[in-house]
Amino acid sequence: MLCLASHWLEICFLQLKEKKPYSTFTKWADVHGPIYSIKLGSSTMVVLNSAELAKEALVTKFSSISTRKLSSALTTLTSNKALVAMCDYGEYHKMVKKYVLSSLWEQMLSNLGLLYQKLNHHHRDAMIENVVNFLSSKINDGCYLVELREPFQSELFRLALKQSIGKDVESVYVEELGVTLSKKEIFQILVIDPMMGAIEVDWRDFFPMLRWVPNKSMEMKIQRIATRKRAVTKTLIEAQRKEIAHGEEINCYLNYLLSQEQTLTEEQLIALVWESIIETSDTTLATTEWAMYELAKNQTCQDCLHKEILEVCGSEKMTEEHLQHMPYLNAVFHETLRFHSPVPIIPPRYVHEDTQLGGYNIPAGTDIIINIYACNMSRTDWEEPEEWKPERFLSDKYEQVDMYKTMTFGGGKRACAGSLQAMLISCTAIGRLVQEFLWKLKDGEEENTSTMQLTTHKLYPMLACIKSRLSGTSSEQSY
Ligand code: HEM
Repeated sequence: MLCLASHWLEICFLQLKEKKPYSTFTKWADVHGPIYSIKLGSSTMVVLNSAELAKEALVTKFSSISTRKLSSALTTLTSNKALVAMCDYGEYHKMVKKYVLSSLWEQMLSNLGLLYQKLNHHHRDAMIENVVNFLSSKINDGCYLVELREPFQSELFRLALKQSIGKDVESVYVEELGVTLSKKEIFQILVIDPMMGAIEVDWRDFFPMLRWVPNKSMEMKIQRIATRKRAVTKTLIEAQRKEIAHGEEINCYLNYLLSQEQTLTEEQLIALVWESIIETSDTTLATTEWAMYELAKNQTCQDCLHKEILEVCGSEKMTEEHLQHMPYLNAVFHETLRFHSPVPIIPPRYVHEDTQLGGYNIPAGTDIIINIYACNMSRTDWEEPEEWKPERFLSDKYEQVDMYKTMTFGGGKRACAGSLQAMLISCTAIGRLVQEFLWKLKDGEEENTSTMQLTTHKLYPMLACIKSRLSGTSSEQSY
């Protein structure tokens, strides 16, 4: 049996805070091969950089690598692993994953076989139309350049609130904090602050024997973020609980969770509702913005997509129902996930019993890092991986199932619960935005490819000139 010790690298934990650890891990894979281990203080991490190894860890060896390894910041922010995405595999995970899936999808038997009726269709339609209307109004107001992020982010957050607690909220008085918060402040507390807190690194995580050494400023910062997001989520839940108690029929995740309330503690209920809000609000925005950036940059691809929209939808508005007839749009979505993976590193797993990966012995207690970015940039698996080319997903070699070859949604029993929702929102939004407007990047915007945050958002919001395809009115012309 081979031993991984020869590949050990000593690195400083501070490197974890660098902007693109997935890119550093990929460079190391070029030197040390697709599997190597890193010693960080007293922890050992094994980094996997190929699709074959990733599948082995996610699927074949799942029973030995199903547990999450969280930093102390994430443990606090997730109310001690109460989230579906961050809990350990076991009875609690099975139960709450079923809850989140049931809230997103209603499984029905029909005489046609198994049919999935998509819930919240009307909320998603309204969200996308609001974005389109906002951009049209910008053109009418004579704006020179538009940012997609601003309207998309706020509409996605509105959708997250409607799906999670059953209503949109403009402001809320939070008794525990003694303040009335605007919607922007609610977004900051529920989404932005926890995302920033999640990448905070406490050096003591790597030296458990030194846990007694105080790191008060870090602890207080994370505790403040956790306390504020808990207080706001709890207030939103209580307000809705009253409405529901008055007999109001509200179709949302909270309502579903309340019907299962006897199986959850109060902390778990609050954590699960918050999880649904933050997960809906984040990754789909990153993917849609990157897709529109690439289409605005690649006019030929944008033209191909527009041609497909005209052929499939004619003069009708594009909707979710058209998606199954739009292979090019699907290819744009999957190529964007491959090239700009919003979650480039799968949330770390922990080996809880001795196992093997790629022929190496991996002892219990090792952390496993799955570098999706490296898998998707592999020259063995992808031709010209550094090029954004949706056509690669249209070639005869690709089957429908290969759409998930990118593994951006993880895999196996812990695969993403929101992948279908992300696909529906993102694809319909991309399609509608191209159906309605002609997109062109602002000069110099091609260079703005830096990323930020835990999920790889574009650092600078995309700035584009748009032109209405129907009236021919352009944001550029009307300046
Ligand atoms: C483009 C958008 C998205 C991407 C790329 C993405 C990616 C991921 C990844 C990589 C994982 C970890 C899988 C693993 O450990 O094997 C995950 C888990 C999860 N995601 Fe997503 N996600 C997206 C959107 C969403 C949305 C919109 C929701 C909710 C509405 C959601 C809910 C979840 C949940 C609940 C889990 C935990 C599943 C489990 O541990 O069993 N995701 N996602």
